Amino acid sequence: MRPRLNVNIDHVATVREARKTIEPSLEEAARVCEAAGAHGITIHIRGDRRHIQDRDLPSLKGVVSTYLNIEMAVTEEMISVAENVRPDAVSLVPENFGEITTEGGLDVCKHLEAIKGASARLRQAGILVSVFIDPDEKQIHAAAEAGADQIEICTARFAHMTVGKRQEEFTDDGVVSEEIERIGSAARLADSLGLKVAAGHGLTTLNVGVLAEMQEIEEFNIGHHIISRSIFVGLDGAVREMLTAIGASEAH
Ligand code: PXP
Repeated sequence: MRPRLNVNIDHVATVREARKTIEPSLEEAARVCEAAGAHGITIHIRGDRRHIQDRDLPSLKGVVSTYLNIEMAVTEEMISVAENVRPDAVSLVPENFGEITTEGGLDVCKHLEAIKGASARLRQAGILVSVFIDPDEKQIHAAAEAGADQIEICTARFAHMTVGKRQEEFTDDGVVSEEIERIGSAARLADSLGLKVAAGHGLTTLNVGVLAEMQEIEEFNIGHHIISRSIFVGLDGAVREMLTAIGASEAH
């Protein structure tokens, strides 16, 4: 099966919030991504509301016709927001004060009870629960125990090692292939436990190919690179480039 692409449009909101104005429109961005063939839209509502605002959630819920995934921290405030908006999926992520972007996976082992409680509430509201974790065996078992439907493998480490390089240019000192193997075995383990598998963070059209070949990875959540490319080729073109890179474009 070909993987699906959810486009993370946070940075469309970053540009809008730079001026605290109404453009660029998130709703229009979502429509363009969907028309280009994206399988879903992802947004991250952060505690500091630096890009996505509360009003964007119901507004996007009304516009997105494919699949709406909202990333959020495991807090009472955020779980209530999700229960009210009822997106298709919620991705539980860690959030550290002062971080530029999500810095790594959620420690499900450490916060097991809180994540169990949040998963139960979200599932009760009919929302698919994904947990964003590092490709680590213990975290995958904990995600299953917490009642998650899906894991999203944090590819930040892989992305950091491969930034700006095509697969044939990956430095062959064994470290990159080790990280690819770590992601692959995490995907296989999660799949064997009946969990759906997604991946994301720092992925680009250059480095995503090797992960897109992994059969167990059903979904990618990709934002910064697509929005960056859209400056030069337009959002429609940038989404299509990524669909091609993950081998999903033939499906449309
Ligand atoms: N997945 C998760 C859980 C994230 O927090 C982010 C960043 O918001 C992404 C995917 C997308 O990462 P990027 O913007 O680097 O493609």
